[in-house]
Amino acid sequence: MRPARALIDLQALRHNYRIAREVTGARALAVIKADAYGHGAVRCAQALEAEADGFAVACIEEALELRAAGIRAPVLLLEGFFETDELSLIVEHDFWCVVHSLWQLEAIEKAPLSKPITVWLKLDSGMHRVGLHPKDYQSAYQRLLASGKVAKIVLMSHFARADELNCQASAEQVAVFEAARQGLAAEVSLRNSPAVLGWPQIPSDWVRPGIMLYGATPFEEANAVASRLQPVMTLESKVISVRELPAGEPIGYGAKFITQKPMRVGVVAMGYADGYPRLAPTGTPVLVAGQRSQLIGRVSMDMLCVDLTDIPQAGLGSTVELWGKNILASDVAMAAGTIPYQIFCNLRRVPMLYSGS
Ligand SMILES: Cc1ncc(COP(=O)(O)O)c(C=O)c1O
Repeated sequence: MRPARALIDLQALRHNYRIAREVTGARALAVIKADAYGHGAVRCAQALEAEADGFAVACIEEALELRAAGIRAPVLLLEGFFETDELSLIVEHDFWCVVHSLWQLEAIEKAPLSKPITVWLKLDSGMHRVGLHPKDYQSAYQRLLASGKVAKIVLMSHFARADELNCQASAEQVAVFEAARQGLAAEVSLRNSPAVLGWPQIPSDWVRPGIMLYGATPFEEANAVASRLQPVMTLESKVISVRELPAGEPIGYGAKFITQKPMRVGVVAMGYADGYPRLAPTGTPVLVAGQRSQLIGRVSMDMLCVDLTDIPQAGLGSTVELWGKNILASDVAMAAGTIPYQIFCNLRRVPMLYSGS
């Protein structure tokens, strides 16, 4: 059997969720959209359900998958509905629904709902992706109340630059939010992971942690709370072939790496078809037989090469950690010019093995 696999530590997931609640004192919706950032939404929801205040997903298809698996906790649709006929399923399954656009508000007003729904009313406080314009926010709130279709409204917005700790943009977004919600007696939800970890002064009745649940930091610099997170996913494989090469020999596609000295090179069963980033360059960290080493040459579809020269104990069958408890996914992401979010979401083909449920 091909030795590539992803180990998912559900105990670490719970640990990270508790940190989100502990440092904010708020209720926390665990963001498990995109198959829990590649970690398996149903398994993650099952592991958290006993303690989580609820879950957040991108769309009704993801929410229905949770209900089909028996998850009864609240589930928020972060983009609300895409088509009006989803509203009957929202009512039937008790999903919470973001309203980010006036067309959604109008659809709710017109829909013959058999039961009032919970709406999270989203303000565009400066990110300019989705969310109501501040000038429409108060009237949208009043219209929802007047519609009789809504049981509860939570006021929300989303940060564009909370991962930049020395940047004023988040404070400016909070100011826009505060002005827009003046006088509205409703709970609020602003903070995603970087704001949970790095912006303790921002109020929130509800927080929406995503990436931190999986143990990765959203910051490029060190952060005290982020350093307490435990990586949930370990992506590992084994050395399947070993080469002894003299100086001056090319390795892999495009001969992008030429040995400068005699080298021992290990070939690992892991490639971009598994989601390992093809753009990870020579020098990207890996752990081989418990010792840090580096990727060399181009990543292929099913294989990649690592340097075994200074790891005499490593050889055929040695375990290689591509990321996990020792090699941080955020370091691999940075080397490859991307973010841990994408590294996790891209994972495919490898079997997932769960522990700690
Ligand atoms: C509206 C909203 N809230 C929360 C999150 C979670 O963000 P993070 O993974 O940075 O915690 C996301 C993710 O994109 C989001 O879109």
